[in-house]
Amino acid sequence: MPTFPPLKNDLLLRTARGETTDRTPVWMMRQAGRYLPEYRAIREDHDFFEVVETPELAAEVTIQPVERFPLDGAIIFSDIMVVPEALGLTVEMVSGQGPTFPQPLATPDDLDRLVDPNIDAALGHVFDALTRTRHELEGRVPLIGFAGAPWTLMAYMVEGGGSKSYRHARAWLYRHPEASKALLRRITDVVAEYLIGQVEAGAQMLQVFDSWAGLLGPETFRTFGLPYLEEIAERVSAAHPDVPLVVFAKNVHHGLEALAATEYDVISLDWTMAPEAARHTVGDRAVLQGNLDPCALYAAPEALRREVQHMLAGFGPHRHIANLGHGMLPDHDPEHARVFVEAVHEHSRHMRTV
Ligand code: CP3
Repeated sequence: MPTFPPLKNDLLLRTARGETTDRTPVWMMRQAGRYLPEYRAIREDHDFFEVVETPELAAEVTIQPVERFPLDGAIIFSDIMVVPEALGLTVEMVSGQGPTFPQPLATPDDLDRLVDPNIDAALGHVFDALTRTRHELEGRVPLIGFAGAPWTLMAYMVEGGGSKSYRHARAWLYRHPEASKALLRRITDVVAEYLIGQVEAGAQMLQVFDSWAGLLGPETFRTFGLPYLEEIAERVSAAHPDVPLVVFAKNVHHGLEALAATEYDVISLDWTMAPEAARHTVGDRAVLQGNLDPCALYAAPEALRREVQHMLAGFGPHRHIANLGHGMLPDHDPEHARVFVEAVHEHSRHMRTV
């Protein structure tokens, strides 16, 4: 493994490991992106996948929010869609529409179109971006790596893009259960190896995004979601037991207890979940992350500060990483992101002194 500058702020990692700290760490999902003018300036000259595939640009964009706000983590600038690309599918980022697959997986026969990737060849640009970013961060904050969860990636690969209901992908689970499992298995193998490679390239914490897990019912989640999430955590923690693993299974109210029994150290909650109830369900088996409604950032600063204070009180001072319940939105005001981050600093210190 390469050597890197020593870490000056390890609040995020210590909290993720369950240690008590004198302030709650904070970062934001999608903290690098279009709400930042400095990101839009780079995108004027480079398209999305060019930024992702050019380590210098990816590192610059990853660090932008860290330069601007007192964050406790940086998340590598990339996308969950790099894994379907590595598996041989073409993905286009269509402005206003998000990721689009010109030739999605229509029938089980289409699984023959997938390739078994050489991870270093297919995803080496992400590893290079991580190594470069870790150096350029100079130990300011830990670097977070990530991947999409198997079900969420399958949903895009079958549906061909964003969708409200993902009915084609969900239909596969009932019409082609064995082919669905074969697909999920292939994605799982790539994601596990990819995440292990991210640690070896410099990632210090990893998050698995199961953004569409909430479209599954309790039983389909237990069959097509959870086992693959579990296997990823087992394989990554066997290779790198000290690297905290975060799982974000959006809207999976029924699955918190099962997730708490896995190797994930941190469970990231969306804003529809009450922190007190989640804590009651998972007990001390996991650290919780989240979960301010991203739309609270549209509120006036005073109202936003009250929302942050209320959220922090719900989680309590320990075993909590402050974050949003989902990603930053393109029309968010960066100054409101600042209010969010600074309010976490202020109120979480205050909570420990009263
Ligand atoms: O700052 C960060 O969080 C790191 C970068 C990051 C991006 N995508 C950059 C991005 C991360 C962690 C992701 C993950 C991702 N990508 C997820 C899981 C998290 C979630 O939001 O649920 C998903 C589902 C995707 C797929 C994806 N990529 C969508 C749906 C879109 C379009 C929606 C949108 O915001 O436009 C993207 C494109 C994308 N990924 C952008 C960014 C900054 C915007 C593209 C642009 O610059 O034009």
